Formats: sequence, structure tokens, C-alpha cells
Amino acid sequence: MNACLRATVRGALNNGIEPYVVYDGYKGLVEGNLKEFNRSDVSEILSKGGTMLGTARLPEFVEVEVQLKALEQLKKHEIDVLICIGGDGTFKGAQALSRLGFRTIGIPATIDNDICCTNYSIGFDTAANTAIECIDKLRDTMQSHERCSVVEVMGRNAGFLAMYVGLAVGATAVLVPEKEIDFEKDVIEKLRQARLHGFTHYMIIVAEGVGDANDIAQQIREAIDLDPRVTVLGHIQRGGTPSARDRVNATKMGYLAVELLREGKTNRVVCIHQGRFIDLDINEGLSLQRKIQDIEVDVLGAMTGI
Ligand code: F6P
Repeated sequence: MNACLRATVRGALNNGIEPYVVYDGYKGLVEGNLKEFNRSDVSEILSKGGTMLGTARLPEFVEVEVQLKALEQLKKHEIDVLICIGGDGTFKGAQALSRLGFRTIGIPATIDNDICCTNYSIGFDTAANTAIECIDKLRDTMQSHERCSVVEVMGRNAGFLAMYVGLAVGATAVLVPEKEIDFEKDVIEKLRQARLHGFTHYMIIVAEGVGDANDIAQQIREAIDLDPRVTVLGHIQRGGTPSARDRVNATKMGYLAVELLREGKTNRVVCIHQGRFIDLDINEGLSLQRKIQDIEVDVLGAMTGI
């Protein structure tokens, strides 16, 4: 997100636009926590994880009175366009402001990678690499002890991160909320197959949205002669030095948002679709469905359990 902020601030200044930043998301906007930024304010943030602006969840932002308070602040600071960087909640907020007649541009950023209109969201690559690094470390100890690990990765409503990580670590089974689970077939049978093939350690990846990883471990214990260990990777996945892919994509997306702004376009979202950077109408973008691709399901089916 810092790379994206840097690109938007510098892109704006290059085009004679005065950029302001909002601290702590919509909460900061409603409270008037805004500041004018210059070039040096975004120096040396490119390699830093998280966001220098802070963020906050503000469920009340669904209420029109709260949105109107945000508009008051924008008017007070003579701001014409709001570039919103974030996930689903951020986009819905941007859509609400655009419905009230304010110009917004959305940039997708969430480690869940579940924003429907884009194949890629800022943060996903770094989070995936962090999870993979942790799981590789876990594998070392599992191998030594001939064990089964149940690892929970983030994704309250979406399994994109779990699928991707599962493929990258060669998991025995991957459980995601998008796919109905047949525990015997999807987990136990795969563990049995892996044993038959001579494997001595097993890795079960569970997306947070599937349920408690401890319950999954208990179900395995009851069904088969294994005593799994549970690891919940949690918020560690949301920090750390951003990957090259995240930095570059975030920079391009920030640059594009300023281009849209310059062209007078509004109520757009910046997306990556079929490898190309494009923009879509915010309402159209949010109405699309993002599904786990068949190829991912097929590859996982073929690669897990053996
Ligand atoms: O939306 C991203 C996400 O990381 C989800 O995967 C996770 O469930 C959630 O945020 C955790 O949110 P919080 O930090 O508010 O607990």
C-alpha cells in the first residue's frame, strides 16, 4: 500500500495536482484527519510493509449520515477526487460516496485477493510468500517428527490465499469456504493415499473462513491414527517487506489512478484483468463475481494427497 501511496502522491504532484492524504481510512476522513503531502513525505516508504497512513474499520460508514460527514470534510479541504485503496469495505465506501455525487477512484488492496473485478490485489503476493516461508519452516520439523500439520491461513470469506499457498507448498489437502467439504474424501482419504505412497509428513491448509483449525485437527485425530499440530498464521501474513511483484503492481496501479483522474474519469476502479491493467465503472466492477478458477481446483485435486 505504501508503494501505491507513493505513486499516487508523486503522480499527482507531477501533474500539478495538490495531494492530501487521509489517515486511518474512512474513520480518519469522518474525523477530518487529513494532511497535505509533498514528494518527500512519501520517501523511503517503498520497502515498508503495512501502510504509513494507518487504517481502521468503520462499520458505521454504511449510514448515509456518516457518509455526509465525510463529504463535509472533503468539501472543507477543497478536495475534488478521493482515491480509495483497500478491500471490499473500502470499495463499498467509495461506491456510496460516488452515489452521493462525489468523484472516487478505487485501487484494490487486500491479502484475501477477493475483489471481484480484479485478478490481483495489492498485498496478496507478499502475504502468500510470508505464509509459504512459514510453512516451509514448519515442514522441516514435521519431517523430523513424522507429523501432520493443520495450518490456518487468512481469508474470512475467501479461499484464494489458501489455494495459492496450498499449491505452492504441495499441501496434502486444502480446505476453502467456496467449496463444500466432504471430510472423508477431501481430507482423510488424501491422508491415507499419502501414507500409502510412503509419505511421512502431511500438510493440511485451511482457509480461516472454513472454521476452527483445532476442530479440523480433532476430526483428523478421531478418524485416523495421527496427532496433528495446529498453526494459525494470523496477522503475521499482513506484514513484512513487500515483494517485488506487490511493489511494482502497486506503483502501476497508483500511476493509473492519477491518469484516470487527469482524464477527468470518475467512479472507476483500477483492475488487473487477463494480465492487463484496466479500469472499470465502480458499480460494474462490484457487481462481478470472482470465483476460484477451475484450473486451480483441477491442479489441486491432482496434486494433493500423493
Ligand atoms: O480482509 C483481510 C483480512 O486479513 C481477512 O482475511 C481476515 O479475516 C481479516 O482481515 C482480519 O481482520 P482483523 O484484522 O480486523 O481481525
